[in-house]
Amino acid sequence: MALPQIGFGTYQLEGEDCVNAVRTALDAGYRLIDTAALYENEVEVGRAIRESGIPREEIQVTTKIRGRNHGFDEAQEACRESLRKLGMDYVDLLLIHWPNPMNDRYIDTWEAMVELKDDGLTADIGVSNFTPKTLDTIIARSGVTPLVNQIELHPYFQQAAMRELHASLGITTQAWSPLGRKSDLLTDPVLVAVADKHGVSTAQAALRWSIQLGNIVIPKSSSAARIIANFDVFGFTLDEAAMTAIAGLERGTLSSLDPETSEVL
Ligand SMILES: NC(=O)c1ccc[n+]([C@@H]2O[C@H](COP(=O)([O-])OP(=O)(O)OC[C@H]3O[C@@H](n4cnc5c(N)ncnc54)[C@H](OP(=O)(O)O)[C@@H]3O)[C@@H](O)[C@H]2O)c1
Repeated sequence: MALPQIGFGTYQLEGEDCVNAVRTALDAGYRLIDTAALYENEVEVGRAIRESGIPREEIQVTTKIRGRNHGFDEAQEACRESLRKLGMDYVDLLLIHWPNPMNDRYIDTWEAMVELKDDGLTADIGVSNFTPKTLDTIIARSGVTPLVNQIELHPYFQQAAMRELHASLGITTQAWSPLGRKSDLLTDPVLVAVADKHGVSTAQAALRWSIQLGNIVIPKSSSAARIIANFDVFGFTLDEAAMTAIAGLERGTLSSLDPETSEVL
């Protein structure tokens, strides 16, 4: 099954707020839900999906193996634990959340995931926050190319080199923080001008820009109105001048940790 161009991000959604937000997203038409063991909301995501009444096979669920569970046996157990929490037999996409290259256990983790896919516990496998070096290592060691690399990507950090590398390897780019959380992106005057010209919100302009580059976006919101509006990005196209203007917003700095040098457990 092909991945939708937009999914719903669930980082920082907890408890009933998470259940309600995921239900709203599913009602609005999202069919890709992005969670992670680290987010501690897999139970709620699973409940929202069951309560939606939408057949399981029509929804794609992504979860992620966190840093403290790197290692062959640890990763396999972590996947089973995520499935128990989600109340599911399988996920659609299992990612390594963060490479943690200094301890090198991401290679064993990846090999465990190849087996989990063969065993049907996940329909596909990918990675997140992988760099050219860590991508090259897992592909060389296992002969298996990740379906997806989920990376920070928004108009302030556009990841041109990684997008080019992904295209050459046949890897799909998923954009996390597509609205530039932790920044003032949504009030940037350049984005405001683009949005006004197209009669859309700045959030819609940012999402549409990323989709037109070929990325999958996974915006998060806790507000029903914003969840619905963020999904409404297929009825307009940004013109060339708008794409060029947004390209000029690049700042060249990650808003989060550098995956080459930092560890996330
Ligand atoms: N793999 C990784 O390492 C990684 C890292 C970070 C994120 N992610 C994934 O990517 C998803 C999205 O990233 P993110 O949550 O960091 O950031 P994001 O989606 O870029 O931004 C979310 C923020 O924007 C606000 N927002 C949402 N829609 C809006 C709108 N239409 N107008 C104004 N503000 C709006 C939200 O506030 P309200 O909730 O109040 O609407 C929230 O504060 C995450 O939820 C997670 O699933 C993955």
